[in-house]
Amino acid sequence: MKKEKIILDVDTGSDDAIAIICAALHPQLDLLALTTVCGNKPVPNTTENTLRVVDLLGMNIPVYRGCAEPMVAELIPERHAETRQTAASAVQDGEVIEYHGDYLEIPPATSKIQRKSAVSYLIDTLLESDGDITLIAVGPLTNLGVAFRADPRIIEKIKRIVIMGGGHEVGNRTPSAEFNIWKDPEAAQIVFTSGCEILLVPLDATHVGVVTYAESEAIREINTPVAIAVSDFMDQRIKAYDALQPMAIAGSTPPHDALAVLAAVDESILYDIQLKRVDVDFGGGLADGRTIVDNRVPTDNPPNIRFAFNCHREKFVKMLMDTIALSKEL
Ligand code: RIB
Ligand code: CA
Repeated sequence: MKKEKIILDVDTGSDDAIAIICAALHPQLDLLALTTVCGNKPVPNTTENTLRVVDLLGMNIPVYRGCAEPMVAELIPERHAETRQTAASAVQDGEVIEYHGDYLEIPPATSKIQRKSAVSYLIDTLLESDGDITLIAVGPLTNLGVAFRADPRIIEKIKRIVIMGGGHEVGNRTPSAEFNIWKDPEAAQIVFTSGCEILLVPLDATHVGVVTYAESEAIREINTPVAIAVSDFMDQRIKAYDALQPMAIAGSTPPHDALAVLAAVDESILYDIQLKRVDVDFGGGLADGRTIVDNRVPTDNPPNIRFAFNCHREKFVKMLMDTIALSKEL
């Protein structure tokens, strides 16, 4: 089967790390490059973390450093003044519990970033392509929003976009919004209204696609350095989710970004995917960053997004484990 060419845009953090590993290992994906963005952590951290994962894999995957700030969202100091933001860390028995440390707990990177910026790489590569490259974005959409504004010619050169982000009945950063979209809502709206084919993998699906301690232990038993690292990331996430954002299954975590990457390979791990009109609120108030699904008939504007409302958890976890097991062939 012909491999699908992808560029993976990340704000590496712990679940981005698992997503990178899945993208690098899966035989149906040709991971051309990684582009980093400010999100879970500042871009120096997300870039170093991405390089650390590339070194852990022992693969020569180019990494391009991206935008250090959202397009405009953080220019307004009082933005989000009224919105209660979910805590991203807690202290338990003197220990800091958080989803993502400042740096992943794997060896410091030895490989270096590419000279070109992520936005320049996206524009140059897409313009020169045959229109056969899929973008998978699992962090704030700043790099894509800036690239689309800088050179709109690339839009028709993108095969499709798979995005981890948003939520209809589920928020996490605020009662109303998911982190990736909330962090740069203007960029998200630019991407959502670009006319590209978009599959959105929101919290409605990722919060079903959780991994338990027992399943993390099964991954650890694959017993490769990559699998052990994935299990370490999972265990850290489970502890953080239990403390900060308990899932329906106690002792579990959603590796959000890995679901988006594996859904790009096999969409049947998702279900209830509906073509919807989805826009992003960037008004700065309580609903700032919310993905607004228009369920009316007719909608104000044409449908623009395939929205995955659910996930087959067991099918996803099996696919995740099978993919991580390919690390034995490294
Ligand atoms: O809301 C979940 C998303 O925010 C994931 O991509 C996670 O890595 C963070 O970026
Ligand atoms: Ca992410």
